[in-house]
Amino acid sequence: MQILTTIDDFRTARANARATGSLGLVPTMGHLHDGHLELVRHASAANGTVAVSIFVNPTQFGPDEDMLTYPRDVERDRVLLEEVGCDLLFYPPVEEMYPTGGVDIQVVPGKLAAVLEGVSRPGHFRGVATVVAKLFNIVQPERAYFGQKDGQQLVVIRQMVRDLDFPVEIVAVPTVREPDGLAMSSRNTYLSPDERSAATVLYRALMRAQELHLDGEHDAEVLRAAMSDVLASEPLAAVDYVSVADPETLEELVLVDSQAMVSLAVRIGGTRLIDNVLLA
Ligand code: PAJ
Repeated sequence: MQILTTIDDFRTARANARATGSLGLVPTMGHLHDGHLELVRHASAANGTVAVSIFVNPTQFGPDEDMLTYPRDVERDRVLLEEVGCDLLFYPPVEEMYPTGGVDIQVVPGKLAAVLEGVSRPGHFRGVATVVAKLFNIVQPERAYFGQKDGQQLVVIRQMVRDLDFPVEIVAVPTVREPDGLAMSSRNTYLSPDERSAATVLYRALMRAQELHLDGEHDAEVLRAAMSDVLASEPLAAVDYVSVADPETLEELVLVDSQAMVSLAVRIGGTRLIDNVLLA
């Protein structure tokens, strides 16, 4: 695996890799877990070259968020990526991506970024879309892999690719979970043992909605209320939102008559966790 820390060096390595056929990119912020590695495995199965980026992108964190404490362990990440078949690791310092401290021209998502995560995290998806656009321009992947775990991010990126005509296929990878259902996340490391057990309430709430839907419940408000009940049973959980939305427009549904994305954001102690499932 080659490790490239400058855009110029990455472009040279990328040019040399053209002969292998398509390139699949997995953008990450590092501190890799099996969810990230599953994206790399998917990329490896479908492309001649796999590139992973590790960049804790300052512009997608709010002023009160965890940018400075976000977990980092690039040595461990490097070993895991070698094992799983990554060819090119792009690991730029902040000054390489933002030489003047930021960018003047940004990618500004509209309606899709105004709901759900966008309410608590204004500016988050602007930071995400801008850095992903930069990564697409630097890496020039044929395919890019994103986790269903961050369902709204996936919807925003797909729309950016459509609206701005990026020549890249976006591939969604199902959420990888711990045995008790908790979605893997770098932020799970913040949880104390008590909070870690309480955190299973997210998955239990989602499963409740899925069960009701399978039993024929189509009223979105009934599904939201059932999730809220499950979440209310956990004293350590403070709910930010529960949502049953159209999986493409992210508009809240009244009736679940075709597909839906059921999602939630919950604070467990000081840690904000998100998760979702798709209803078909
Ligand atoms: P990060 O949180 O590191 O996640 C990188 C990718 O891994 C995202 O596509 C995310 O959805 C996926 N992922 C995380 N946990 C997962 C899980 N349990 N199962 C499956 N996939 C999972 O998302 C970001 O970084 C950043 O916003 C980024 C896109 C890199 C832009 O800075």
